[in-house]
Amino acid sequence: MEQQIYKGKLTKFHWLKITKKEELTKNTFSLEFEIPESLKENFKFDAGQFVSIKFHSHTKDVIKDYSMTSAPFEEKIALGIKINSPESDASALFRNYNIGDELLVSEPGGRFTLVSKPSEFRTIVGFAAGIGITPILSHFKNILHNEPRTRLFLFFSNRTREDLIYREQLDNLARNCGERLQIFYFYSQEKTSNTFFHGRLDDKKLSLIINQILHLDDTDEESTIWDAVDDVLICGKGDMIKKLANACYHHGIPKKNIHFELFEEYNDDIYPVEKEFPLIENIKVEFKMFNKEYCTELPDNNDKILQQLLIQKFDVPYSCKSGICGSCECVLEEGEVELLENEYLTEKEEKKGHILACMSIAKSKKIKLNFDLS
Ligand code: FES
Repeated sequence: MEQQIYKGKLTKFHWLKITKKEELTKNTFSLEFEIPESLKENFKFDAGQFVSIKFHSHTKDVIKDYSMTSAPFEEKIALGIKINSPESDASALFRNYNIGDELLVSEPGGRFTLVSKPSEFRTIVGFAAGIGITPILSHFKNILHNEPRTRLFLFFSNRTREDLIYREQLDNLARNCGERLQIFYFYSQEKTSNTFFHGRLDDKKLSLIINQILHLDDTDEESTIWDAVDDVLICGKGDMIKKLANACYHHGIPKKNIHFELFEEYNDDIYPVEKEFPLIENIKVEFKMFNKEYCTELPDNNDKILQQLLIQKFDVPYSCKSGICGSCECVLEEGEVELLENEYLTEKEEKKGHILACMSIAKSKKIKLNFDLS
């Protein structure tokens, strides 16, 4: 076992053996790892989580995060990985490691998770683009296995049919669960006989989906399954998530029920700041993270604090960027901020000065934060 601070938290890695490696398309592949009996507890996970893998790429060791496609009941770590270019680390992982090799794999983490509700009637909608299908596949397998009354809709976009991964697995899932899962495939760079299925998943496409696919009764314009949607899962690139999350929100889904996982570094805000504040410039920010002290200056308070620290390349922990997951929780030790939205902190925590950096706007010339909560 190895321990190291990775992405703002202490992460434990264990050696796991590769048991399966499969090329899915010309630039994607899957890896499976066996979990030995002695590590079963360490590798317990929730659907939608990821592991980090430490491996040798070119001349150095790197750590990369990959979402699991496996569901917890399958008791294995299965990953779907995209190779962005022949020079990329994922390409080195594909070329240099084979079945039987061992790699350092972190214990599972991530907050792209849902609370299981086996006795409820739920409607859950998933939107995925390309490799973004991986955690949603894990969720859907898990829900179909654990929640007999939940119905699922998946809207899955790819550039072309050749880029489409896990089609067989998805179609088998749909075939074997009665009417509980419906899947719709979209292609952004390939003509489709029905133009509806051509193009990217975005705000405009969402309106069409609500009005045409999820429409229930032709005699009633307002009758749509969308009104029954409990949770939305979105996974893909930042721009797609931003457009879809905002569109879902404007179509009535509360932000706390819109769950997303970013598959790239994305410094933009998902939800825009809707309120105006008196402008403060050159704000001094001191913060403590993993026992290290940092000091920087924010140009102004037009953006949220997390946003600005990420732009400055500080390795501040975050996940949802929308006040839901708690990854960016810290204590405000000095100065004033406004917490715009909060679905995570309790009243008691707020009174003790806890804030969420992703949802906080600075309201004083100097602020001091502490991310070391324990
Ligand atoms: S990143 Fe999720 S609450 Fe801030």
